Amino acid sequence: MTITRARIDPRAEIADIDRRVFGGFVEHLGRHIYDGIFEPGHETADADGFRADVVALVRELGVSTIRYPGGNFVSGYRWEDGVGPKDQRPRRLDLAWHATETNQVGLHEFQDWLDKVGSDLMLAVNLGTRGTAEALDLLEYANTSVATTRTAERAANGRPAPFAVKMWGLGNEMDGPWQLGHRNADDYGKLASRTAKGMRQLDPSIELVVCGSSGRSMPTFGSWERTVLEHTFDDVDFISCHAYYQERDGDAQEFLASAVDMSKFIESVVETADHVAAVKKSDKRIMLSFDEWNVWYLSKWDEQAVTYGPDEWPVAPRQLEDQYHALDAVVFGDLLITLLQHADRVRSASLAQLVNVIAPIMTEPGGIAWRQTTFFPFSITSRLAGERAIRVPVDTGTFASAQFGEVPNVNAVATVDDGGVSLFVVNRSTTDAADLRIDLSAFGEDLALVESHLLHEDDPYAANTLADPERVGVRPIDGATLEASTLTAVLPPVSWAALRFA
Ligand code: AHR
Repeated sequence: MTITRARIDPRAEIADIDRRVFGGFVEHLGRHIYDGIFEPGHETADADGFRADVVALVRELGVSTIRYPGGNFVSGYRWEDGVGPKDQRPRRLDLAWHATETNQVGLHEFQDWLDKVGSDLMLAVNLGTRGTAEALDLLEYANTSVATTRTAERAANGRPAPFAVKMWGLGNEMDGPWQLGHRNADDYGKLASRTAKGMRQLDPSIELVVCGSSGRSMPTFGSWERTVLEHTFDDVDFISCHAYYQERDGDAQEFLASAVDMSKFIESVVETADHVAAVKKSDKRIMLSFDEWNVWYLSKWDEQAVTYGPDEWPVAPRQLEDQYHALDAVVFGDLLITLLQHADRVRSASLAQLVNVIAPIMTEPGGIAWRQTTFFPFSITSRLAGERAIRVPVDTGTFASAQFGEVPNVNAVATVDDGGVSLFVVNRSTTDAADLRIDLSAFGEDLALVESHLLHEDDPYAANTLADPERVGVRPIDGATLEASTLTAVLPPVSWAALRFA
């Protein structure tokens, strides 16, 4: 047992929290849309074909902005295919995921679904196989209220009022050799700058995200951000970051250090963006849109990749359907803590993804929908996080990481609002329980501990499955007390917790 001490002091404010940090991501991929959120024959399906059980879970998850329609998919997507009468929409080959896209869900249907789940739309434009003209067409279709041929078309398709999409992504992972239309940083930076300038001419109110690296381990990481921002600094508001983590070689302890990587990633991108600002003698600060983050067993997916025959292009195949266990959820909770610890620069983030595809929510066609283990840290953090993020320096034990040296066992962040204080904390040690002593005296004598949630399993590989969908959940922390303004609680090894004081 390691005694872990910390003090929560509202003067250690990081920043106000942009709720867009609790965003999600829906891509036309596998069974995400078709047989996921959209299953017209399902017993809970509404008149539009959307599963009501999935809508309820997405609402419970508490997702703010949802990035759509990709991902790798967007780099070959023609948005016009997804509007107009459904029986006239083309079937297309999706080269990114080797599937057939039926286009039965497009912009209008997705906005209808967002209205049901209570989330806002963030749209990505295709800068892979397409360019500025098509991005402008989509922006005019989505956001303009002036009478034009495009807006008449939108009205005829059922939406007289603009969609009024605020956040726009300029392509996806353009640094990745796997990306359709992949190009070097100079070429992408010039294209993104031209496109952004045109988009702002059409709608100056939008916020634009330029593609950063698709991972910190990319060989061009750092130089990509610098070059792209040299071209686009004046044109964009955000640069994107993408990161996925997984346990490798059965080394759970190393996996539990993943958030250190995310932290270094964020800090490096901030430093690079601020370097470009310095060179340009600008006070402008580029914000980060961490618009893909999660645990993803990418190596398993590569090993198990199905090889299709030349004429096999399935509709909505089972792809990237990772099953998450308790250990994954602890790492995931720590990633969320890390995003909040950088609330001053991470002003938007998208959990990748939402349903069936590396997702907190799973569905069975004609069957149930259930919460994966990662559902709990997200839904609880989204619900309990207050208005402002507070730094919580922690005095704790450490473990040795091959990649990061000595890593603190315990990591934490707090938030405050008029109603009270929330604390999010993780014990990354695989061996030592953490005996927490947290000083909350800065908030006076009147605080009470009103909620606590612990995610921990004696078997860290326990998971929720179709056969046993409620195997893993959260429970109150046994014996947690707040006395004389000090919280005392024991976090077992490999656990994540959230506490609310009011
Ligand atoms: O989220 C799955 C894929 O991961 C996305 O399509 C792509 O952007 C990333 O490489």
